[in-house]
Amino acid sequence: MPSTAPIGILDSGFGGLSVARAVRARLPHEDLIFAADCAYAPYGDRDDAYIIDRLEAVISFLLEKEVKAVVFACNTATAVGIRYFRERLAMPIIGIEPAVFPAVRHTRAGTIGVIATSRTISSAKYARVRERALDWADASRPMPIRVIDMPCPGLMECVERGDFTSPALHALLTEYIDPIAAAGADEIVLGCTHYPFLAEAIRAHAPKSHLIDPAPAVAEQLERRLGYLDLLAPEKENPPQEHFHATGANEDREKVLRRLWPGSPRLLAMEP
Ligand code: DGL
Repeated sequence: MPSTAPIGILDSGFGGLSVARAVRARLPHEDLIFAADCAYAPYGDRDDAYIIDRLEAVISFLLEKEVKAVVFACNTATAVGIRYFRERLAMPIIGIEPAVFPAVRHTRAGTIGVIATSRTISSAKYARVRERALDWADASRPMPIRVIDMPCPGLMECVERGDFTSPALHALLTEYIDPIAAAGADEIVLGCTHYPFLAEAIRAHAPKSHLIDPAPAVAEQLERRLGYLDLLAPEKENPPQEHFHATGANEDREKVLRRLWPGSPRLLAMEP
């Protein structure tokens, strides 16, 4: 695969754009192909077979576009499917997981909140991430650390319909974020790639908490992997290409894309 090939970035919807923007900021010469499985979202309330099936379809689409690497810009897809696809595909596959470690490292209150989809919170992968972070904290922090896990069904759908402010959104945040704030959590881990787009609304419910978005760390890891394999795109004078595809692409979804990404991009169909 040539280093000039594009990077594929996938998610169940537009949340993965929070990762794509970190990739764009860190790797300004790379061509990007973003694939959002909007018509089959959310993944976070579905079983593993459904999610793997959908990932097969989206990844085949990206492979047809001859990508040199795939970024799972979705915590749920990473938790459920990354191992399966790493065993089957001979290319770099970069995932994302809730950033529990930085939260337990930085908390001064000794309480952190993790917000994610139901499937991420219930996954074996998340249980391991959480346990490793707490083992480290046991050995390295003077106080016990408490983790409040909060599955947040319904939140990603708000981002998908371009709702960043409505009373319905705030009613969900009252249910999910207020108890975390009331428990005194000073770090909240955004464990779903949709949630950085709700940061302002979340802050209104937890004004004293610091929000952790792992997207920059994912971009850093991607750069490291591509560099190691000599796959980083060479500098070029022309602006890099960015293509955005979705299942169920339509005008409404294109409008949402345009609120989340600069330059009025077009939303192209993906029909796997
Ligand atoms: N953006 C996805 C994540 O990071 C999940 C949204 C969903 O499909 O439920 O987990």
